[in-house]
Amino acid sequence: TRIFIPRDVAALAVGADEVARAVAAQAAALGTAVTIVRTGSRGLFWLEPMVEVETPLGRIAYGPVQAGDVAALFTAGWLTGATHPLRVGRPEDHPFLARQTRLTFARCGIVDPLSVEDYKAAGGYRGLAKAIEVGGAATVEAVTKSGLRGRGGAGFPTGIKWKTVRDAISDQKYVVCNADEGDSGTFADRMILEGDPFCLIEGMTIAGLAVGATRGYIYSRSEYPHANATMRAALDIARAAGLLGRDILGSGLEFHLELRVGAGAYVCGEETALLESLEGKRGVVRAKPPLPALKGLFGRPTVVNNLLSLATIPVIMDLGAQYYADFGMGRSRGTMPIQLAGNVLHGGLFETAFGLTLGEIVMEVGGGTNSRRPVRAVQAGGPLGAYLPPSQFDTPYDYEAFAARDALIGHGGLVVFDDTVDMAHMARFAMEFCAEESCGKCTPCRIGSTRGAEVVDRILAGRDVAANIALLEDLCNTMKFGSLCALGGFTPYPVLSAVRHFPEDFHTRNSPGR
Ligand code: NAI
Ligand code: SF4
Repeated sequence: TRIFIPRDVAALAVGADEVARAVAAQAAALGTAVTIVRTGSRGLFWLEPMVEVETPLGRIAYGPVQAGDVAALFTAGWLTGATHPLRVGRPEDHPFLARQTRLTFARCGIVDPLSVEDYKAAGGYRGLAKAIEVGGAATVEAVTKSGLRGRGGAGFPTGIKWKTVRDAISDQKYVVCNADEGDSGTFADRMILEGDPFCLIEGMTIAGLAVGATRGYIYSRSEYPHANATMRAALDIARAAGLLGRDILGSGLEFHLELRVGAGAYVCGEETALLESLEGKRGVVRAKPPLPALKGLFGRPTVVNNLLSLATIPVIMDLGAQYYADFGMGRSRGTMPIQLAGNVLHGGLFETAFGLTLGEIVMEVGGGTNSRRPVRAVQAGGPLGAYLPPSQFDTPYDYEAFAARDALIGHGGLVVFDDTVDMAHMARFAMEFCAEESCGKCTPCRIGSTRGAEVVDRILAGRDVAANIALLEDLCNTMKFGSLCALGGFTPYPVLSAVRHFPEDFHTRNSPGR
């Protein structure tokens, strides 16, 4: 019998390794032959560690399982899928999963992340085979037709970026995966690195073939040691299996791929600072133009894509551009792996076609707050994203609909807050974060963020509140329009949305120390 136990950090943090040891020990004590397979996570974090047993009824999940529950689960007969208070049932029947459309995350949590056989059996490498068959130009065309837009946040059409690189003439081109997932409340990149690394390798190989790049780099972060270990192991396996190197799948295609790990600067998620860091320099933002597509890594044409964009390429090539484009709404085509975090009952990974409303996602899928108090605000798109109040829960999850409300989807993170949150403190935090993470190249961000935190401090102390709010708004406009990159340019979003939607937290601060 195979027993599937996640090795995703979200599961390890709540005892998955202890559970695996307890399962092995109990099976040995009972003389029962079981094979433990360590998988990624399905993304139902409140049920982790969620253990799945291969039974005559199919895979049956139990969770959250603690090491102390294991003996009782064997006694209850979990090897045949028996009833037990922790029994979740067939994972795919669980409402949280049944409601999803898993394209990018189709295999995550199901396969052994380091088994090429599992990966291929679950549809892996069909996309690359297709790309090899149709060639680079048709591959770029398919990606354009799919409507895929950059999942790092800016939403730039991936196919158009690829075409720019493909059309550039150079002795060397590169593909760079931005896996420097620094947004608060986001974890989708990490889940792919830990749960389905071959999907990223395949996607980057297709990108290399499409634009004529023979070298690629995955830029990950030091905060992800488990993900990096899994990715390194997957790269070794892929090289040994002829899935990377000089003659991939016997096609004559050459593609070499390496992992690089950043040192913890948020700004290195900005593509040009990332390239500087990859080149071994300090992570400082470069002015654009020139675009990285024309003059990127080591001055050569470079595709810089977010991990989620690249991990979506195999399914587009396998099932077809039209198949992918048929999901979604408006100009937001396909699916988005939404990450539900913060004070939320059902936190985790929810991949769905664009178009659900924010309220449906937070209240129905997420189940509201974990504290069971009313939701007061949802921050969308990371620490530089806007706070949306429940009165905007009718906003469809769509790039343009969010932009129309001065908000952004970003990398798909949603962080939920209940009614105990103090929004003036959150505005201060945004300024503080910007001051801490600023690369220092331009004045509005480097100095504006520190002055901004001071202005919020005066508001918090109840000093000249109206005048200081006006000053804060003025400063935000300077940062928004005068900053070189999104770090300084987007910090005004959380600040101004807090002031606009929660004025009571700013205007009524007469008692210091509230
Ligand atoms: P951008 O709009 O300047 O560029 C988007 C992408 O398109 C870049 O890769 C750029 O090089 C490329 N591009 C633009 N025009 C092109 C052309 N004509 N041909 C080829 N490529 C072209 O946005 P930027 O500054 O790269 O990113 C800002 C976004 O980053 C924000 O919208 C925000 O949501 C997001 N963000 C994401 C974070 C994360 O952790 N994932 C953190 C902070 C911000
Ligand atoms: Fe650097 Fe901030 Fe200017 Fe971006 S906005 S270039 S992080 S100083």
